[in-house]
Amino acid sequence: MNFTTLRAQLAQFPHLALANYPTPLEPLPRFSKSIGANVWIKRDDNIGPGLGGNKTRKLEFLMAEAQRCGAHKVVTFGGLQSNHARITAAVARKLGIEPHLFYFEKRPRDFIGNLQLNTLLNAKMHFLPLAGDGRNDLQSINRLVRLFSRAMVGPSYFIPVGGHNALGCLGYVDCAAEIDVQVKSLGLENVIVVTAVGTGGTLAGLHAGSTLLDSPVRVIGIDVGKLWTKFPHDLAHLTGEITALLGERRTFAARDIPMIEDRYCGRKYGVPSQAGTDAIKRLAETEGIVLDPVYTGKAMAGLIDLVRRGFFKSDETVIFLHTGGAPGLFAFP
Ligand SMILES: Cc1ncc(COP(=O)(O)O)c(C=O)c1O
Repeated sequence: MNFTTLRAQLAQFPHLALANYPTPLEPLPRFSKSIGANVWIKRDDNIGPGLGGNKTRKLEFLMAEAQRCGAHKVVTFGGLQSNHARITAAVARKLGIEPHLFYFEKRPRDFIGNLQLNTLLNAKMHFLPLAGDGRNDLQSINRLVRLFSRAMVGPSYFIPVGGHNALGCLGYVDCAAEIDVQVKSLGLENVIVVTAVGTGGTLAGLHAGSTLLDSPVRVIGIDVGKLWTKFPHDLAHLTGEITALLGERRTFAARDIPMIEDRYCGRKYGVPSQAGTDAIKRLAETEGIVLDPVYTGKAMAGLIDLVRRGFFKSDETVIFLHTGGAPGLFAFP
């Protein structure tokens, strides 16, 4: 599929303009020197309402659909420091829709970080202390929230955790096309994009987009969560759903999903790791750019470790996708 056809396919879906594109793609000369690789950064942080982030691109499609359905309320859920929940609340408020956020945790004593922003946005927060410590099945947990929300909120538009469905992921198909154009116009070659993986929608959208475009740009995701069972299998299925939505039936297997699972997550999702904290400090002190402890810090720690292990070839350009999340910094001492 060529670029024009892909953009025409995307244009068939209702879409809101919540940020200015393309987001900048900037070199990181001091950081690159300090780790011994050619690294650039794609600034998808701080895009969109409510201090924004990567979820904005997904919500441009999902909230347009909510509006089309005439929704007065929107429901979603996430971990206590979910950026997705906070950005959904901000976009909903901008559209005059009431945001309801579910958390499978005890109601915390202090509302800090993203929870503080949710309070400012007057999001309706529902705390259900049902969380287990193990991995969950993505589809079952979405079904569970739907059930609770029907009883507790009434009629509403439901957005899965992380905006993780084929419609939402179109935002990152579009981003793959955007990166393809930027890389060509900057004359960058042998490019590999590194992104944090939470629910994996960002990765699936990028992978679907670069596959459809037959782009030379490769993508690799770094799992920061260890959250889901059958994860590569589910992402393969989702990637196939995304390409089908855009008019091309393709089959992806779990082994086709370019993701490093488990290695860079640290103890568990939502708990900062030492390597992640070190990576945050290294980027801040070399380039003045701030990452977050839950997603991008751990993904950057993965990137640094992969450079150390010789994973990238010396002629490869690595683009780190900065997916946002800075409000999470203020939830940790
Ligand atoms: C800051 C940040 N980076 C990365 C991710 C991961 O995105 P995805 O859920 O699409 O894998 C998220 C959300 O989960 C996020 O909030």
